[in-house]
Amino acid sequence: MKDFKKSRFVSEVSDITMNMYHQGWDERNGGNISYLIDEEDIRKYFRKDKYIKDIELGFTADPICRNKYYLVTGTGKYFKNIKKDPLTNLGLIKIDSNGHTAHLLWGYIGGGKMTSEFPAHLMSHAERLKVNPKNRVIMHTHPTYTICMGACLPTDEILFTRTLWKTNTEAVVVFPEGVGVLPCMICGTEEIGRATAEKMKSHRLVTWTNHGIYGAGESIDEAFGLIETVEKTAIIYMLTLDHAVNVIPDEVIIGLAKLWNLKMMPGIIEEK
Ligand code: 13P
Ligand code: ZN
Repeated sequence: MKDFKKSRFVSEVSDITMNMYHQGWDERNGGNISYLIDEEDIRKYFRKDKYIKDIELGFTADPICRNKYYLVTGTGKYFKNIKKDPLTNLGLIKIDSNGHTAHLLWGYIGGGKMTSEFPAHLMSHAERLKVNPKNRVIMHTHPTYTICMGACLPTDEILFTRTLWKTNTEAVVVFPEGVGVLPCMICGTEEIGRATAEKMKSHRLVTWTNHGIYGAGESIDEAFGLIETVEKTAIIYMLTLDHAVNVIPDEVIIGLAKLWNLKMMPGIIEEK
């Protein structure tokens, strides 16, 4: 059997969390990632399931998420420490068939457990899997300029999306479905989990005003690339705030959507 610590899953999460830390997005224990791993990949590392302990979820997992394996960052753990000690800072769990318990197969040594944002993660996995069975990653982080931009604009996803699209030509191409926006809410709760998952039905990106952002994707690269593009655009917006004389004309956004055959979020740009 191969050592799961040396798996591509652990190395992908270790590398991206170090990268995100160096972007300045993940102060202290800020940010969390969950990575759905197919059973055929799990079997390369574990001949059969052997559980270290059970962890109560505190909510009921959607049936689509049950009997599935997730590599999840630990609550209170620092992104900067994952690469040097993945076994302490990450855990591999299987959601049981009744949707109430996580069985721990690997990691969380020293008594850890899943991120406090696991309700938002698992509920988002459920909604994204229903839209795209290939979805594998939910990523949450605290990118500085995205948070600044959310603080400067009303909590309106039409306005937020339009502002991003009109600031950077890549924006509409990378996230034509737009960005879901939630107001400031109490984090770590089932309620914010449900609200995030509701937005995930139609968006791969959801911002939490005054807190951070969620990205979803088929891979770590897709989830990170979405967030990175929002953050780059938010940097441009915040640095030009009240100074910009050139914003992207609607015709260019429509032209990009036509060129790339994109289905744009309705209500953002009026087709003339
Ligand atoms: P955790 O340490 O529980 O993952 O929480 C970090 C965070 O970003 C809360 O939103
Ligand atoms: Zn957070």
